[in-house]
Amino acid sequence: MIISPEIIDDIKFKNPIEDVISSYVNLKRAGSNYNGLCPFHSEKTPSFTVFPSTQSFYCFGCGAGGDAITFVMRTENLDYLSALRVLASRCGVTLPEETERVPGKKEVGRQRVLEMNKEAAKFFHNCLLDEKLGADGRKYLMEERKLSMAVINHFGLGFAPNHFFMLHDHLKSLGYSDEEMTVGFLCGKNDRGVYDYYRNRVIFPIIDTTGNVVAFGGRVLDDSKPKYLNTSDTPAFKKSKNLFALNFAKNHCENQLILCEGYMDVIALHASGFENAVATLGTAITSEQARIFSRYTKKVVISYDSDEAGQRAADKAFKLLQEVGVDVRILKINNAKDPDEYIKKFGAQSFKSIIDDSKSKFEFECDKIFAKYNILNTDEKIKASHELSLAIASYPSEIEREIYCQKISGILDVPKESIRKDVNAILMRRTRDAKNKEETELFRKSSGIGDRVNPSSAEFLKANKIEEAILGLIQLYPSHLKIVMEKMTVDNFVTLFCKKVFEKIKECYDSVGKFDIAFIQDAFNVDEISRITKMMAERQRLKTNGEDVLNDLISSLSKEKNEAEDSDSFDSILSAINKKKK
Ligand code: UTP
Ligand code: MN
Repeated sequence: MIISPEIIDDIKFKNPIEDVISSYVNLKRAGSNYNGLCPFHSEKTPSFTVFPSTQSFYCFGCGAGGDAITFVMRTENLDYLSALRVLASRCGVTLPEETERVPGKKEVGRQRVLEMNKEAAKFFHNCLLDEKLGADGRKYLMEERKLSMAVINHFGLGFAPNHFFMLHDHLKSLGYSDEEMTVGFLCGKNDRGVYDYYRNRVIFPIIDTTGNVVAFGGRVLDDSKPKYLNTSDTPAFKKSKNLFALNFAKNHCENQLILCEGYMDVIALHASGFENAVATLGTAITSEQARIFSRYTKKVVISYDSDEAGQRAADKAFKLLQEVGVDVRILKINNAKDPDEYIKKFGAQSFKSIIDDSKSKFEFECDKIFAKYNILNTDEKIKASHELSLAIASYPSEIEREIYCQKISGILDVPKESIRKDVNAILMRRTRDAKNKEETELFRKSSGIGDRVNPSSAEFLKANKIEEAILGLIQLYPSHLKIVMEKMTVDNFVTLFCKKVFEKIKECYDSVGKFDIAFIQDAFNVDEISRITKMMAERQRLKTNGEDVLNDLISSLSKEKNEAEDSDSFDSILSAINKKKK
């Protein structure tokens, strides 16, 4: 632990978890706890629970859990220390500066990469403005792409000169190490040494919603490949969790966000007054990004390239965005390859009007199906009608389905009842399939198969249940913690994960005299922290948590442990016999 337990205590005390979480989730009181819709997966009925008594949260739907610090880590995509820093500044506590920075040895941290990125962004921008160094970059951006100086400055665009060591030498002069530059994805390394990744490219800095430069995209000036070079994941950046220009768009997104494919589309849109445009970063949209959209807005207009690849990508984006509950529209761009070109050709006013009558997904699907089939031919009409029923069945709202059935009935000249029957049959089949899938999943879970956090649970199911109950109880009651710490040792535990949890809790108890999940956080990843919180949350739901229950659990565990060991030796005898037989 780098930060002392007293400071962590203080920060947690001044940031009640219910306050922290209510600035992200609409919480409703339920007894002594709070419920809300989980911010980590999409759901319609709340299974996300906040426990003020233990200052933790747990989602009974997706299994995410932890304390206020883990909550901030997950929602803001931060490491432990940075999350702690966010909470510290929220309540006006100053963290001691990271004391132990052993040069060379320590892992390159997020903060350091962010500082370095800021320097790199300044460097690239200054190069672009430099009379000589930036001439090619300025020619490209201003003459070929028609960007004004104001727009270039607004986005902080830059230019990486055609040189192998310029950025490297500059960062070195500022005290950054080769390792920091390679881990931060600014430089690569080969047998001849460390060299700049970004050369002879115009640079688009990616800035997160708190103003940090988290990554870069760099475009070539001609047709060479790769067209864009993007920062891979670094300690300060995860592609799948960021959006380009959200730092600007977040202030203009109450009504809708426009999702584009490319950096240049976004810049052209912002320059024409559509400051609610964002783009993913060189990849298709992920479910994490879809959730970001749902946090910022109610409606998203997908405005991808008009080519086939773009339209296929739009289909995928549509599904992900619909899953998180935002109203999604798809823009059809005619006579231009992308929004950037469209605005240049037809102007902002025209773009505004196609945004305003962007089509719902259903209209879009209908257009595609009617383009494929000739409904004057009976066979084709049947096929079209079936595909339309399939499409209608994927809308969760009954009213919406009803309206679409009506619409289709008119076009196909088929009674609405028949279409509705078709749709209902599809829905029933889907429900049945989903139920089967759920049952298999439940079986897998209850038998521990595929448990990545604690793989050995599958082998010792019963023992694992008891261990988890004990580890849950000691998180709930300090008196139970004391008993367990006095009576039990790590050898009483059976599965590897529970052994480790016990050990860490014990270390913490021995040094601080109590337990708080924040004190053991650096020993576990977020999924493991979730599991530890689950043990607590499952017990919280029960009424029978007294000392007698705890003692029963301790003795049942020792029985199970013996049986586990017996079966171990039985297995070894059996395999010995089998070997002899051969
Ligand atoms: P496009 O090829 O459509 O580029 O890729 P663009 O944004 O329209 O750029 P211009 O107008 O040709 O300059 C769309 C997005 O896909 C990612 C980038 O994020 C780009 O903005 N991409 C594309 C890459 O990451 N790498 C590539 O090599 C190509
Ligand atoms: Mn494009």
